[in-house]
Amino acid sequence: MDRLLIEGGARLDGELRASGAKNSASVMFAAALLADDPVIITNVPHLRDITTMIELLGSLGVEVVIDEKMNVEIHANTIKRFTAPYDLVKTMRASFNVLGPMLAHYGQAEVSLPGGCAIGPRPVDQHLRGLEALGAKIEMEDGYVKAKVDKRLKGARIYFDISTVGGTEHIMMAATLAEGETVLENCAREPEIVDLADCLNAMGAQVEGAGTDTITIQGVERLGGCEHRVIADRVETGTYLIAAAATGGRVKVRDTNPAHLDLLLNKLKEAGAEISLGDEWIELDMKGERPRAISLVTAPYPEFPTDLQAQIIALNCVAEGTGTIKETVFENRFMHVHEMNRMGANIRLEDNNTIAIVEGVDHLKGAPVMANDLRASVSLVIAGLVAEGTTVVDRIYHIDRGYEQVEEKLSNLGASIKRVASS
Ligand code: EPZ
Repeated sequence: MDRLLIEGGARLDGELRASGAKNSASVMFAAALLADDPVIITNVPHLRDITTMIELLGSLGVEVVIDEKMNVEIHANTIKRFTAPYDLVKTMRASFNVLGPMLAHYGQAEVSLPGGCAIGPRPVDQHLRGLEALGAKIEMEDGYVKAKVDKRLKGARIYFDISTVGGTEHIMMAATLAEGETVLENCAREPEIVDLADCLNAMGAQVEGAGTDTITIQGVERLGGCEHRVIADRVETGTYLIAAAATGGRVKVRDTNPAHLDLLLNKLKEAGAEISLGDEWIELDMKGERPRAISLVTAPYPEFPTDLQAQIIALNCVAEGTGTIKETVFENRFMHVHEMNRMGANIRLEDNNTIAIVEGVDHLKGAPVMANDLRASVSLVIAGLVAEGTTVVDRIYHIDRGYEQVEEKLSNLGASIKRVASS
């Protein structure tokens, strides 16, 4: 198992390119199962979660062709099996979303229940309720969801009880091949949902309103192929901006979309960063200054993303003043806090572990650390960058799930970081 070895203290300075969004690309691989013709997805990041999704399609018998630029061509009509096994679904929850597309296209699907994960129980009740409202017959057996429909799914009006990204995407995909109109209310509005709707429409679907809380889908009889370019990864972009700010440095991120990071950019300005923008780039400059502490509450888009909470806590660890961070999306997303405290941070959890109060300290001290979640792991890398001495981040397979070439990108910005194999 690999680890990352970081010598702290370098001020990040330089440029990098944002990768394609993992959370868009992975759901588009599920969407490809709706099509009768090949779907080509481009700007796909080279990541473990993507490989898992490709493996899952392979296990269904679907032919997938990948070229050297990570353009991925999916031939759904070569499908031979309709069961997504536990071994794959448990490693990547997003793979559960193959259920709706297989059901809508082929009338049957069996997908393992994903189970809990490190950041909370993460139920799928909204997904299942939505599919049932579209006419699916669903049974649970041996930890699997077994879904069937006679002929086609039927359009319906569905109200989500909570804002769910995966749930909105799942039912939106299934409804594209349903008979008649589906209206989804109280939808999540994340940019990845808009990206998915654009991809579905390029396949011939009729989806309107993605990015608002009401999405209307006119079902069609068949979907064809398309070529679609995945949007830039806003969480990856945000992570590098926060890392640069924490080190008092400067970074320019190219091939990204500033409009998707409005709130983060405002928070980083509050922290003292000078921010300049173009259509497809963001530059942040701290001019060597120590950041000021940031306070925020995570919530569904367009509010502050839970996926950038851990990174902001890392910044607050060495900021001037006290930052209060409230997590409202997931129940157990502060596991990085204990590791950061072991590095000399001063963070306390309150209110049933939903609020972290971070008193900035002058320095963190390097230590061996690890975490069980992607964003927590990368926040420990940021903590390592601002710590005195050596930090060893273990279990970095989590980082490899979501950050393409993390050590190359950080080294190019001047960080002292290398990957070593655990003994
Ligand atoms: C997506 O997860 C992202 N994953 C997550 O990114 C992200 O943190 C999350 O959205 C919130 O933005 C992908 O896109 C692959 P939700 P998802 O359904 O869709 C509860 C990362 O690090 N809920 O919006 O699973 C749920 O438990 C990851 O890249 C139900 O109760 O998130 C959570 O508390 C981690 N019932 C809240 O809703 C349901 O049926 C929001 O979850 C569905 C969700």
